[in-house]
Amino acid sequence: MMNELPSVLIDRFQRRVDYVRLSVTDRCDFRCVYCMAEDMTFVPKQHILTLEEIYEVARAFVELGVGKIRLTGGEPLVRNNILSLVKPLGQLPGLDQLVLTSNGSQLHRLAAPLREAGVKRINISLDSLQPRRFRQLTRHGNLDQVIAGIDAAIAARFERIRLNAVILKGRNEDEVLDLVDFALQRGIDIAFIEEMPLGLIDEHDRALSFCSSEELRAIIAQKYTLETLGDPSGQAGPARYFRTGAGPTRIGFISPHSHNFCHLCNRVRVTAEGRLLLCLGNEHSVDLRAVLRAPDYTPQKLKHCIVGAMASKPERHHFNLQDTPDIVRFMNATGG
Ligand code: 5AD
Ligand code: SF4
Repeated sequence: MMNELPSVLIDRFQRRVDYVRLSVTDRCDFRCVYCMAEDMTFVPKQHILTLEEIYEVARAFVELGVGKIRLTGGEPLVRNNILSLVKPLGQLPGLDQLVLTSNGSQLHRLAAPLREAGVKRINISLDSLQPRRFRQLTRHGNLDQVIAGIDAAIAARFERIRLNAVILKGRNEDEVLDLVDFALQRGIDIAFIEEMPLGLIDEHDRALSFCSSEELRAIIAQKYTLETLGDPSGQAGPARYFRTGAGPTRIGFISPHSHNFCHLCNRVRVTAEGRLLLCLGNEHSVDLRAVLRAPDYTPQKLKHCIVGAMASKPERHHFNLQDTPDIVRFMNATGG
């Protein structure tokens, strides 16, 4: 007999885990310079969870009190048939917040059906508004197509849309105000994310390209007055948000280096291969795929495995840009 299952997930540090980020593929149609190497090896297809398996994982978490799921990648919208996962997730009782992170390349065609299937909010990466530079930073991306995707998302009336920008010194630092203006004009949010040392890249030296949130805030403050909307919280996530003027736009800063927010952490991640990662900045993981594919699989067993994994959620991450990264896994393998 196994022990009874709890109705909520709590880790050793009394943090309630009610948010799961599910990576549905490690593949992507872009190769952003801070995220991937030019020449990437992807996980063999048979190691990737099927859409049915991903649904099983989602259901197990929701039955354990998780109310928010974010689908990520890689690029989640390059996964074949993704709507056949999103539709049942949109109907899953207890899941209040089904949200998505995307690079925007497929949104011109998928924004409306995703919204209809029940996706509430969407984050879209955008690091440059200059077509040539956009292509250099993403190695493959087409800016016009992404902007068409952002506009399709606006037209589809998601509850909130947030742009995510990673700013690299000497690359797109001069576009910070243009990106803010773009968000203000469209009445959507924007968050600036400090680059994290995930995966070994040789395209640039992360220590040299690093731009802190403080520097970016100073650039924005040259043109706009930033009113704080308060400190990060479990609910709002790790971003510190500001408002400027009367419009709906919030300007956020996610500062994994300069402000440690681990004590508020409410999330875990599942990779496309079904590894449950307890922390973005640590390698430790629990293999959910082995449970799913065992001949004696039951949803009960999966839930027990998830509950047991909470005991190994680390207290915090330690990023260091000077040494070789401890985290050899790339962001696309991690799930954004
Ligand atoms: N550091 C910081 N942000 C990253 N992203 C991808 N790789 C990194 C990294 N190494 C961002 C993407 C996307 C979000 C999910 O994560 O730009 O917007
Ligand atoms: Fe793809 Fe997103 Fe990584 Fe860019 S940051 S390569 S869009 S997964």
